[in-house]
Order: sequence, then structure tokens, then C-alpha cells
Amino acid sequence: MILDFGSQYTQLIARRVRELGVYSEIKPYYYPIQSIKEENPKGIILSGGPKSVLEEDAITVDKEIFNLGIPILGICYGLQLISHLLGGKVRRAPKREYGKSILKIISSDYLLKGIKDESIVWMSHGDEVFELPEGFILTASTKTNEVAVIENPQKKIFGVQFHPEVSHTEMGKEILSNFIFNYAGAKKSWSLSSFIDESIKEIRERVGKEKVLCALSGGVDSTVTAVLVNKAIGDNLTCVFVNTGLLRLNEYEEMMERFKRLNLNVVGVDASKIFLGSLRGVKDPERKRKIIGRTFIKVFEEKARELGRFKFLAQGTTYPDVIESLPQKGPSSTIKSHHNVGGLPKSMKFKLIEPLRELFKDEVREIGIKLGIDEEFIWQHPFPGPGLAVRIVGEVTEERINTLRLADRILLEEIKNAGVYRDLWQAFCVLLPIKSVGVMGDERTYQNVVAIRMVQSTDGMTANWFHAEHSLLSKISTRIINEVNGINRVVYDITTKPPGTIEWE
Ligand code: XMP
Repeated sequence: MILDFGSQYTQLIARRVRELGVYSEIKPYYYPIQSIKEENPKGIILSGGPKSVLEEDAITVDKEIFNLGIPILGICYGLQLISHLLGGKVRRAPKREYGKSILKIISSDYLLKGIKDESIVWMSHGDEVFELPEGFILTASTKTNEVAVIENPQKKIFGVQFHPEVSHTEMGKEILSNFIFNYAGAKKSWSLSSFIDESIKEIRERVGKEKVLCALSGGVDSTVTAVLVNKAIGDNLTCVFVNTGLLRLNEYEEMMERFKRLNLNVVGVDASKIFLGSLRGVKDPERKRKIIGRTFIKVFEEKARELGRFKFLAQGTTYPDVIESLPQKGPSSTIKSHHNVGGLPKSMKFKLIEPLRELFKDEVREIGIKLGIDEEFIWQHPFPGPGLAVRIVGEVTEERINTLRLADRILLEEIKNAGVYRDLWQAFCVLLPIKSVGVMGDERTYQNVVAIRMVQSTDGMTANWFHAEHSLLSKISTRIINEVNGINRVVYDITTKPPGTIEWE
């Protein structure tokens, strides 16, 4: 069990534990002690957090947690909290430490068994422990931060000042592994292959002979969900794929082909005219989103009614969606959700099947590959539910969609040719609502401007603009201007998020 104190790395801790073959769950720091007792986890990890234990309203845990006999590992804020609550002393460090540091081992008898005498660790903190709580020993330090690892091996309570969960910490995996296996006594029982088998069995038992409906968005999560449910119940699963008219060039047709290759029983609904009609004259981004969401539900409901009676709806909800929608939100859950397409039609009374509820994105991808979905699709960039509508600033018309589609296709071709597609979180074109003057041949032109957006990110929450090779930018620009009618200027967006967002609308 991971108790979340708001670190940007909390989800990463859970993933690292799972990578070691042990199931992990994140709970908010105020998760009731009674529930912890009932669930009786093998071990508890207290995450890092942006706050200081010295602040008056510092977030904390019930001290009782140290008497449950459950092994505890505190990371960063977690270490300071352990020290603070058990009688050690914490103070503001004279200098905030951020980034790489060298960890020097004093004793590798316990938590640090097998760890090199000197290794790189990743630090990010403003406080430091300067007096250890009773019963604890200092087992490693760094140059600037004397107290880097503290241990009470008898009580199985440990604290590390650095972040073992980030990949920059050289021996992080080994340290987590020592805690999880040597002290928490966990067994390796979490693997994605066993997950697939168990989940198929569970779906089969739950659904019986009933019928299941699934809305495909063209994204990875809903596709993996559908393939998994299909493996469990075959053609008792009906999938619906709506053409909003806001997809990429030929995407509707290509996706329908892919779904069929995956043996999915899929019904395509071409509603592009309806969507375009409802967007006529609309310029405001939020109104566009609302209209698209509403139209989607309407189209989907109508089709579902036509297709018969369904008791269940399968959805591609993943673990980050679950954490973000907890009624009692944990501190790191302010992360914006990647709004799922359309959302659930509330007026229809479905029971939900959400087989990916416990999985992180990279686990979903791995399962998709194990289920035989092609890698190119599995690694595709995220695409917003409202599609190209939020990449056309101003009114969305068929002509503008077609122009944008051609530019978008060129951009994707060129970044794939340059071998950088996988280095990017997203890459797309935005069609701007202004025209600019140019010359082509001997003629003056007055045409549209396209902005190129290429960003790197790990979760879409923050992003850096991609420092693309000039030769790549030049190729993209030349091809778009030469090949796409109506565009005579290409600009490159060099805004980070924050303060910018990734999409323009
Ligand atoms: P922003 O633009 O907020 O985007 O920095 C963060 C991530 O979310 C995607 N995005 C959306 N996805 N419906 C979606 O399904 C939306 O309305 C929407 N708006 C943004 C965006 O593509 C990026 O990956």
C-alpha cells in the first residue's frame, strides 16, 4: 500500500512495485487506520510530497501506523514524517537539494544489502533530518545531506531521503526490492499474463450469457478493453465506432479495418454530417467540446437502442482515471484527466465492465501487445476526444478539416521518417483563423497559416516543446506549403506547458 502525500512520483512508486511482480495500490495519506488494518497490506510506502513536516498544517498519518507490525518505507517526505513522528528532528536545509547526488553507504547489512558503496541517487527536497529517532541507525549519507537513509531493522521501519522510484537513482530498484521482499515478505504474484487469464475468467463468470456493449474511440484503452472482453465472451460483445468526421485522414476506414482484423464484432456509425452540422458557426472551444460530447451520446444511444438490449457496458477506464475520480481525492490527484470520449450515457442503465481499472498506461500497452494488437497502434500518440475540432481555431468547416488533415498526414509521415515519433508525446498541426501574404512563383498569395506543435511529456500534465532538428522542420514546412492547397505559411510553436496547454483549444 502506498500512502500518497502528493509527490509527483507517487504513481511511479506503484508502477515500480508492480514491475517487481507485486501488486500495489495508492491510497490518500488520510486513509483510515482501521481500513489499513482490515486490508492488512504486506508493506506500506509513505510517498514524497511537496510540503514540509515543519509547517503548521503539515499533512500526516496516525502514529498508530508504526505499531501495526507492518513494515514501512518512507520516501523523502515519508522519511521526514517518520523522523518527526517518532521523536527525531527535522529542519529546513540551508540549501534546497535537487537533482543528482552520490549516495555513500555506511552499512549495507539491512535495507541496503547488495548496494554499491557509491551510487547516484535523485534528490528533491528542502528539509533534512538532523537527529535520528530512537532505535534508528544511519546507514547512508550524501555529501550535502548527511542523513540519506535511516533504518530500524528490528521494527522494519526505514526511510530514504532520495527517490528510489525514479530511473536516475542507479540502485533504486534494488532498494525497493530489498524492502518489498526481504522485509515486507511479499511474493511475486503480479504478472500481466496471469492478469489476462484471470480477467477473462472473471468477465465470463460475471457476464454469463448476457450481452455487452462497448464504445470504441480509436484509442488504445478502449481497443484493449474490447479485445479482452471479446476473448472472454466472443460475439456477445458488440462494439460501436462513431465517425465524428473529426478524425484524421482515412482514420475511420483504417480503424474499422483494424477492428475487424482483431475479430471484433463492430458496428460503424458515420455521423460526420450530424457532428459538422451541430458545430456550424461555433467558435468557442468549450462550446465545441460540449456539443461534441452531447452529440456523441445522442448518436451512441440511438445506435445502442437499435442494436438491442445490453446489460453491460465495457469501458476503458484505467488506474489513473480511478485515482483521479476518488470521492476523497488524494493530494496528487489534481492531475487533469484525459477526458474520455463522450462519457457515459447516464440515462441508460448499464452495469459497467472495466477490466483495466487497476492498470497503468504502460501495463495496458503491454497487455495490448500480448493480446496481439499491432505495436504501431499500441504506441500511437494520444488523440483528443473532440478530435480535429480543437485543432481548428475558430469555426470548423469541412473544407478546413480537409486542409488540416493533409497537413497533419505530412507532419506524421516526416516525424516517422526521421525516427522521432516515439520520442514525442504528441505531434500535430493547428489551423489558425488568420491569413497571411506570401509569394508563390510570381504571384501574390493570401492564405492560411498552420502551426506545428511537437511536445515531449510523460503524462500530458507538463510538456516541453520538442527541439527538432532544423532539417526536419524545414522538410515539414516545405512539404506542407507545396502539397497542401490553401496554406502558405508554417510556424513552430515553442511554448512549454505550463503556462501553455498542449492543444490550442
Ligand atoms: P492540454 O491541451 O490540456 O492537453 O494540455 C493535455 C492532454 O489532453 C488531451 N486533451 C483532450 N483529450 N478530450 C480529450 O479526450 C479533450 O477535450 C482534450 N483536451 C485535451 C491533449 O491531446 C493532451 O494529450
